[in-house]
Amino acid sequence: MLGRLGFETAALDAKLLTQHALGLGALELAIRENEPVDEAHAADIAELVRRRMTGESVARIIGVREFYGLAFTLNSATLEPRPETELLVDMALGALPAGGRLLDLGTGTGCIPIAVLANQPDAMAVAVDLSALALAAARENAQRHGVGERISFLEGSWFEPLSPDGRERFDLIVSNPPYITSAVVETLASEVKDFDPRLALDGGPDGLAPHRIIAAEAAAWLKPNGRVLVEIGYDQGASVSALFLEAGFDDVAVHRDLNGLDRVVSAHHLEGCETTAL
Ligand SMILES: C[S@@+](CC[C@H](N)C(=O)[O-])C[C@H]1O[C@@H](n2cnc3c(N)ncnc32)[C@H](O)[C@@H]1O
Repeated sequence: MLGRLGFETAALDAKLLTQHALGLGALELAIRENEPVDEAHAADIAELVRRRMTGESVARIIGVREFYGLAFTLNSATLEPRPETELLVDMALGALPAGGRLLDLGTGTGCIPIAVLANQPDAMAVAVDLSALALAAARENAQRHGVGERISFLEGSWFEPLSPDGRERFDLIVSNPPYITSAVVETLASEVKDFDPRLALDGGPDGLAPHRIIAAEAAAWLKPNGRVLVEIGYDQGASVSALFLEAGFDDVAVHRDLNGLDRVVSAHHLEGCETTAL
């Protein structure tokens, strides 16, 4: 049925949905594939396939998506982590010093800081999101991957929930903020537009509203020599770089993902560092 409707991964989708409905792993399903399925389970499988036919992704239906080799629980307020974002994690792991402190803005499932902390056992993180429901998923994911003790989750808009008293500072600020222009959100594939939360997608009229706030305020929350890494849309390299240069950052650079598309802007906060005259 899914194949006839043009779903490119119909066979895999059907297998994953069947595994989920029957509570079986891939190997167990393969071993038992010729056994009859009782009526109740057949109805469950049919319902999951019906949902898939409406455009809902398999990950959203089964409530789990893999990212950086880890399984992340999803809910209606979380973006499905995308493979492109793994570049941000690779770069964060390269930029965070031993025992470093990381701030993640717009954490969603918590995929970025959880993947970093899972691979850097002495790092600590603070993760912010405007959505309480997204933070509930992020907390669950942090516990699941054994890093819950090293992450604090804060609800609020970008830097607002951070305590201004004593100004804790970070070695690295990362963010995959919403960066699609409001008009383009309407034109996205149903799988994204109808199922990923609007709050996770819409970056305002020019798609840059969150990047503007992050570029303007990040320096105040960074240690000297601290860095920022932000995900961007494929055509936002120049405009996001300009925001960080205007805000006084150095070494601003655009980095490409495995598809050769601009995906991350990095910026360096040298203020407060000793500089050597040439
Ligand atoms: C593109 S999603 C990224 C989620 C996750 N970091 C990832 O990479 O999959 C952007 C996230 O920003 C959050 N967000 C949107 N507006 C926000 C705001 N004003 N303050 C904090 N978080 C916000 C959304 O709820 C969403 O979780």
